[in-house]
Amino acid sequence: MAPSSLLVASTATALLLLFLSACSCRAAGNSPSAVVLPVRKDGATGQYLTGFRQRTPQVPVTAVLDLGGGTLWVDCDAGRARFALPTQLAATFRFSRKFALCLTSTSAAGVVVFGDAPYAFQPGVDLSKSLLYTPLLVNNVSTAGVSGEKDKSSEYFIGVTAIKVNGRAVPLNASLLAIDKQGGGGTKLSTVAPYTVLETSIHKAVTDAFAAETAMIPRVRAVAPFKLCYDGSKVGSTRVGPAVPTVELVLQSEAASWVVFGANSMVAAKGGALCLGVVDGGAAPRTSVVVGGHMMEDNLLEFDLQRSRLGFSSSLLFRQTTCNNFRLG
Ligand SMILES: *[C@@H]1O[C@H](CO)[C@@H](O)[C@H](O)[C@H]1NC(C)=O
Ligand SMILES: *[C@@H]1O[C@H](CO)[C@@H](O)[C@H](O)[C@H]1NC(C)=O
Repeated sequence: MAPSSLLVASTATALLLLFLSACSCRAAGNSPSAVVLPVRKDGATGQYLTGFRQRTPQVPVTAVLDLGGGTLWVDCDAGRARFALPTQLAATFRFSRKFALCLTSTSAAGVVVFGDAPYAFQPGVDLSKSLLYTPLLVNNVSTAGVSGEKDKSSEYFIGVTAIKVNGRAVPLNASLLAIDKQGGGGTKLSTVAPYTVLETSIHKAVTDAFAAETAMIPRVRAVAPFKLCYDGSKVGSTRVGPAVPTVELVLQSEAASWVVFGANSMVAAKGGALCLGVVDGGAAPRTSVVVGGHMMEDNLLEFDLQRSRLGFSSSLLFRQTTCNNFRLG
């Protein structure tokens, strides 16, 4: 074994021991059905961190949550190592190979839930039966710089077929939304990208459509990296954030549409500006649409690797709860 794989193996064992001790206090019986880790947004970097503590000795471990293949990038003294936690936990605890992600926008903790647990949120909201589903797609060509070209991509892709603003389809080049033979194009989810990144022509089309639907709201000078900003004091507010038109990611059918409300589409920027939170990814990015962390906040996302599907809730704010209110029953 190469020294690096030895390191990975021993650190993985240590982590599993951590999880064993972490869940024994959570579970009713000897065999837990789920492991829940808190996830916090790091204000300085915009990254989502999870942490756990080793018992003897007391060593805190902080990991950046990276959806690249359901793995966690673990930062420890010896450098970076990759763990496919859903797979390892499934093997250890006989869990289903799935996890649910619920990120918060504030410093209050959200969660990542491995295994089977009801998606119960205070006050009395159970999302387990009300998710919409869309297939998780396999991109046959790696999109990560680190693995060999022949590897399949370990990132999570979904089949966005159209984008709507205020219920109206945005005219765009649909072939950019498909994954091509070289693994280019398509739509992936990334917790590492703070904001949603769109290929240039898609970015322009979405921004233009949004601007047309919000002609009555006073604009202010754009604040980088955003292109379309408003005077925040002139934008109304709703339960689901700033009162702006919805943006919809239409999936395999009109009914399976991920509806994005103001809390997830708009970003408060300096000088009181409120900006449409999409970033121009350039003319030839590897992936046409990268759904970033901000768009996922206070949405429950279930990555079911066994059934190759993504379950999504849209905004929990609609149901008067947040990702901070998850409670393990
Ligand atoms: C990936 O390969 C599988 C099997 O060869 C094929 O069925 C699937 O359509 C391919 N996916 C894409 C996006 O090309
Ligand atoms: C649409 O995108 C595809 C893939 O990038 C490109 O080959 C094609 O020329 C584009 N079509 C138009 C009309 O721009």
